[in-house]
Amino acid sequence: MQGFTYVKDVAKAGEGSLVNVRGWVYRKRVTGGKIFIVIRDSTGVIQAVVSRDNESVFKKAEQLNIESSLIATGYVRKEPRAPGGFEIQVTDIPWSFVGWQFPINEDAAKADSEYLLDMRHLWVRSRRMQAVLKIRSTIFGAIHEWFRSNGYYEVQAPMFITSAVEGGSTLFEVNYFGEKAYLTQSSQFYLEALIFSLEKVYTIAPSFRAEKSRTRRHLTEFWHAEAEVAWAGLEDMFTVTENLISHIVKRVLESNLEDLSLLGRKTEPLENVKPPFPRVPYDEAINILNKKGFNLKWGDDIGADEERVLTLEFTQPIHLHHFPENVKAFYHRNDPSKPSTTLSVDVLAPEGYGEVVGGGERIYDYDELINKIKRFNLNPEDYQWYIDLRKYGSVPHAGFGLGVDRLVMWICGLDHIRDALPFPRDMRRLKP
Ligand code: 4AD
Ligand code: MG
Repeated sequence: MQGFTYVKDVAKAGEGSLVNVRGWVYRKRVTGGKIFIVIRDSTGVIQAVVSRDNESVFKKAEQLNIESSLIATGYVRKEPRAPGGFEIQVTDIPWSFVGWQFPINEDAAKADSEYLLDMRHLWVRSRRMQAVLKIRSTIFGAIHEWFRSNGYYEVQAPMFITSAVEGGSTLFEVNYFGEKAYLTQSSQFYLEALIFSLEKVYTIAPSFRAEKSRTRRHLTEFWHAEAEVAWAGLEDMFTVTENLISHIVKRVLESNLEDLSLLGRKTEPLENVKPPFPRVPYDEAINILNKKGFNLKWGDDIGADEERVLTLEFTQPIHLHHFPENVKAFYHRNDPSKPSTTLSVDVLAPEGYGEVVGGGERIYDYDELINKIKRFNLNPEDYQWYIDLRKYGSVPHAGFGLGVDRLVMWICGLDHIRDALPFPRDMRRLKP
């Protein structure tokens, strides 16, 4: 016997081999002369059996609580009734840490919907959270992999900033040595500056929004994958976002089938995710929605309820594009062939999930930008350096932001965004 064996490799070690497994007590049951311990590690669960014949080891096993940690040594045995078809006949428990009674149990969780959130520092050990966190890890890896293999440079932008990207109402104010600063809502403007150096850039960073309502899909701190591309337009953003998202989903299907199954997530909707995604102009969306019983006028925003109904009409994610000027931030370039609309796109995830990406073409002309800032009743002085970029070799460019937690939520099939990350932040939650 050498070293330690991960739970997932115990069956591979083979009948009769001696293994050392390190983990935590997931379930424990005492019947007659035996103690059955289901041991959990980062890779799975396995049953370990301690027999009373082995008195000193049996005594140690008796003391173990749920979530006590232990190292168990024993022989691998085929056991069709055990989860996974194998169990370990324990010969020794060379190490254990018993600790306190684990506080999380089903009754406590049922009694209070906030309980598992208050206990998140311990609940991250649950098999559901393990599955989500593994899928999330694949997703972050796949984002980096896609950008890097498509010629993008990874860059970093500051989190302390001085003016709004996405509107003043969701800015978090920070006292910055007596000066008023904010937490960033998006790294977009910094990425725009960096395209003049590197042409194709991306970043994965937190963004902050003082979202004053609690919804299923809003956090106050979320992970934002953003990209910006010189010499690119709306058409390029359609292809970039659909290729990126399809790549991410493909990687999850390759790496995380067991995790998806543990979450009860059907894979068919994910298997449909292949480029190209259907393109739905805003005008058409309004028509579809009004036929479905909404009463929308041209110029109305498309909110969560509308997105849910709209996405149920499709089996793929969709590109919802050409939003009216008034529902999109000032930096969006208006379509010269239909100036009341913008060269903007949101990608909506299917199955009712809705917006996961916002992006489009940016205004690159100096006068056009100044005029639009004024039309939006904003102060050009607040955007001095951003405007400056339009003075020196400005170029057409486009970009987007992908809400990674929302993507995790959809891919995992979760009901609430706060279950898509280990330590969520919303209006009422700063702990743990
Ligand atoms: O649509 P948004 O506000 O667009 C921007 O921030 C652009 N400046 C991005 C860019 O073009 N570089 O946000 C982009 C995405 C949304 O589609 C959504 O997925 C996610 O970020 N998002 C949130 N996710 C969780 N909680 C929130 N409060 C979010 N706000 C936006
Ligand atoms: Mg948006």
